[in-house]
Amino acid sequence: MGLVNIDNKDVKLIMVGGKGGVGKTTCASGIALKLARDGRKVLIITSDPAPSLSDIFEKEIGDTEKRIHDSCELYGLEVSSDIVLKRWKERFGPEIYEVVSSFANVDYDFVEYIGTAPGIEEEYMLSFIMELVEGGSYDVVVWDTAPAGHTLRLLKLPQLFLSHMEAATKFYMNIYGYIEKVKDTVRLKESKKTLLQIIAGWEALSERIVEFIRDGRSVKYLIVTIPEALGVKMTNRVIGELEQNHLTVENLVINNVVEEADCEFHRQRKAMQERYIEELSKTYGNKNLTILYLAPHEIKGVEKIAGIAGALFV
Ligand SMILES: Nc1ncnc2c1ncn2[C@@H]1O[C@H](COP(=O)(O)OP(=O)(O)O)[C@@H](O)[C@H]1O
Ligand SMILES: [Mg+2]
Repeated sequence: MGLVNIDNKDVKLIMVGGKGGVGKTTCASGIALKLARDGRKVLIITSDPAPSLSDIFEKEIGDTEKRIHDSCELYGLEVSSDIVLKRWKERFGPEIYEVVSSFANVDYDFVEYIGTAPGIEEEYMLSFIMELVEGGSYDVVVWDTAPAGHTLRLLKLPQLFLSHMEAATKFYMNIYGYIEKVKDTVRLKESKKTLLQIIAGWEALSERIVEFIRDGRSVKYLIVTIPEALGVKMTNRVIGELEQNHLTVENLVINNVVEEADCEFHRQRKAMQERYIEELSKTYGNKNLTILYLAPHEIKGVEKIAGIAGALFV
């Protein structure tokens, strides 16, 4: 009973979600390594503010795409909010500046100022990932996401992103009140687009992101959990929200499961875990559940990660 549909050739993005500390990075690494060893060019990205790709692969990775291993085409990226914000500025800075400077006497620092709005880089994260996927440099991207709360927020981000962009420009449009009259006709100097066309472009991008994350053929969601009360609770919340938003979770990994109990301590733990595994199996009878046993050793280095891959793809 291993993962299903994750290694299909159509899959371009695999999102690994779950509560903090349940094994997201471990599973994402195992999946990425297996796909790379299958001959595909793979990028594993972590956006967790406490990145640990470097630790698990025992290789300094950092915030530029770096090849992890010589034997296969596996690349890693620990994306920081700085780098996402930088990309955001490159992408939208000129347009925002163009819009605003056509009505107000502002210098380019204005773009920096908008960029300091809370959440901008988070909102742009999906767009950043989409660009990486669609950029075509990789066959598949494995995204080790930040803990659960963020995964849920993620769904609202394209919309938030749009309202942020619109709010910033509308604020200035209102100050220079005549904009309503001229918005369809005034062409901005540089791009020769009308203001409405620029805003429509942002709207289209936000819709494209939503479409992108809902395409169940190319994007797969995998949730990692542990068989404990809190793990089950968080899993129900995350899966519930994802599915309310028309995103299907096909695979659930139950990690840290005690395989054999040879002392009282582990017998009790195993009995406790079995109750929760049973509960998860009942709730998610329609999903593929994969058990990952608790290893006696640390999961570090390519061979240990390969072991995880072997257990996930049986
Ligand atoms: N099946 C397992 N057996 C043993 N240790 C594990 C297992 N899965 C994860 N770990 C360890 O648990 C810790 C948390 O895992 P990690 O993948 O970093 O979680 P997350 O990314 O969800 O915060 C790490 O030290 C990792 O090596
Ligand atoms: Mg992690």
